[in-house]
Amino acid sequence: MNAQLINGNAIAADIRDHIRQRVSARIASGLKPPGLAVVLVGSDAASSVYVRMKRKDCAEVGFVSQDYDLPADTTQTALLELIDTLNANPETHGILVQLPLPAHMDANEVIERIDPAKDVDGFHPQNVGRLTLRLSGLRSCTPHGVMTLLARTDTVLEGAKAVVIGQSNIVGRPMALELLNARCTVTICHSRTRDLQKEVSDADIVVAAVGRAEFVPGAWIKPGATVIDVGINRLEDGRLVGDVEYAAAAERAAWITPVPGGVGPLTRATLLENTLAAAEAGES
Ligand code: GUN
Repeated sequence: MNAQLINGNAIAADIRDHIRQRVSARIASGLKPPGLAVVLVGSDAASSVYVRMKRKDCAEVGFVSQDYDLPADTTQTALLELIDTLNANPETHGILVQLPLPAHMDANEVIERIDPAKDVDGFHPQNVGRLTLRLSGLRSCTPHGVMTLLARTDTVLEGAKAVVIGQSNIVGRPMALELLNARCTVTICHSRTRDLQKEVSDADIVVAAVGRAEFVPGAWIKPGATVIDVGINRLEDGRLVGDVEYAAAAERAAWITPVPGGVGPLTRATLLENTLAAAEAGES
C-alpha cells in the first residue's frame, strides 16, 4: 500500500477562498469585516511565528487583524483588562491569546475571561462543555480542522476504531470528543498507556499529538489506516518532522498527512472559519 497524501495546504486554500468571498459579500451589504484580536505576550520564537502567520491569514481573507504585542513582564491584571476591553468592543469578533503564556501568568483564568462568543480558539470551558454535549459552539481549531481533513478522504468514521495519542486540552481531549461525536470508537493514549503499539496497530484512524519527533514507528500502522500527524518537531539537522515516522507509515496507510503542510494549515483555516462564524452570530 502506498498512502494517498492529505494535502492540507490545498484544502486550507479552498477554505480561505470561500471565506474571502463571504467577507466580500458582507462588505457589499454594508457590514464591517470580521475583526480578530491576536494577543502575543512575550517573544517566544515559535509563538511569534504562529502569530505572524495568523495575522497574515487575516489580511489575506479581508479580516481586520487587531494586533496586541505585549512585553513578557505584562501583569495578569493588565492582560485581563485588555480582554475586558476586547470583549466590549463591537469591532472585535474574535479574541485569540497565543499560548503558552509566560510562567507568571494563569492561562486558565485568561481563557475563562474571554467572552465565549468571541472565543475563536474554542478553549473556554463553556465551549468545551458544548462540544462534550454535542451542542453548537466555537470548536477547537486543530481538532475541528482534522475533522475537515478526514471529510476530504474516503475514511469511514462511523464505527471506526480511532486512537488519539496525547491528552492535551488544546488537541488530544477535544480531538477525542470530535471523533466520538462522529461515532468512532475512541481510545485516548498517553504516557501511562501500557501497550501503545497494541492500541495503535489495531486502529483504523491514528491521530498523533504528542510533540515528539517520529514517536510512532511506521511499522505500527495497520495496513489501510488513516494517519493524522499533528506534531511538528525540528530535528538537529533543521528538518521538520511529525510525531509519526512518515516514510514507513506511508507504505502501510491508505491516507496520511504530511508534515509540514498537513494539519497546520487547517488549524489556521479553522481559526478564520470560527472568526467569521463569531461575526455572523453577533448579527443574527
Ligand atoms: N499555542 C499552540 N497552539 C495554539 C492554538 O491553537 N491557539 C492558541 N491560542 N495558542 C496555541
